[in-house]
Amino acid sequence: MAASPRHFLDLRDFDGAALGRIIASARQRKQARSGWPKGKPDPDLPLKGHMLALIFQRPSTRTRVSFEVAMRQLGGEVLALSANETQIGRGETIADTARVLSRYVDAIMLRASDHTHLAELAEHATVPVINGLTSLTHPCQVMADVMTLEEERGPLAQQKIAWVGDGNNVAASWIQAVALLGGELRLGCPEQLAPEPRNLAWAAKNNAAIRLTTSPQDAVRGANCVITDAWVSMHDEDAASRHNLLKPYQVNAALMKLAAPGAMFMHCLPAHRGEEVTDDVMDGPHSAIFDEAENRLHIQKSILLHCLKPGA
Ligand code: CP
Ligand code: NVA
Repeated sequence: MAASPRHFLDLRDFDGAALGRIIASARQRKQARSGWPKGKPDPDLPLKGHMLALIFQRPSTRTRVSFEVAMRQLGGEVLALSANETQIGRGETIADTARVLSRYVDAIMLRASDHTHLAELAEHATVPVINGLTSLTHPCQVMADVMTLEEERGPLAQQKIAWVGDGNNVAASWIQAVALLGGELRLGCPEQLAPEPRNLAWAAKNNAAIRLTTSPQDAVRGANCVITDAWVSMHDEDAASRHNLLKPYQVNAALMKLAAPGAMFMHCLPAHRGEEVTDDVMDGPHSAIFDEAENRLHIQKSILLHCLKPGA
């Protein structure tokens, strides 16, 4: 029987050492090409001859561009598909799509409208599948975020992190990252928008230092990194009630004052300026938002290499 493909579906499928190796390899490649033009490939061309398909059931700027540029810098080829322009849009099953695409390409990244689509794709594909965001998690984003935080402030295990707002897909991957790599995470979320209990229970079993509160102030007090995200994610439909619930959770100068002096601010972007975060925090001296965006490129490379070139 053929070996199972090396998927990248969720952080909790890995151990901390494996995640640490992926981040270390991203850091090395980033340093090695510092100042180079973006179109210049990495000299070793490790994915020469490999083809990656990107499927989007939802819009994207960062995930699409960072995967495309990453694949090209590694010497590979890429094709991006909007799911609606494929037969998925007319009802062809994800399982059959997985079987067909596996005959054409070496790996598939999916941005899914629903987490079950990712699971179905991974079950039926014979090539690696990468999670490019689902309704439940966003692991590639949080790998880039951990890389960014560690570049600025040292090992995750030494950080006090506050998540403020919706207990959403990005928060879920942060919960998994902290459970596997260490650090303290306080989540300040309205009760109705608390993180998924199953994910929290899994993290508790891993002895993660994670605490949940409904108070944004309690979450942020003394933290050296404050993170938030959109109030309404791409799969959410209840925009008006979310705005009402989340208004007290805005990250602004007054909230940041409760954090440790010089605390970093992070946001996966796109941001809704004036809603979940104010301009002065977004554009302030301790905002790492564009470093996070840049690190998407570097981390995608090591995720692709993990999936396609084990041991390289
Ligand atoms: N952060 C992120 O995934 O951005 P995109 O939706 O632009 O891909
Ligand atoms: N939580 C957001 C992240 C966007 C990158 C969403 O799912 O829309």
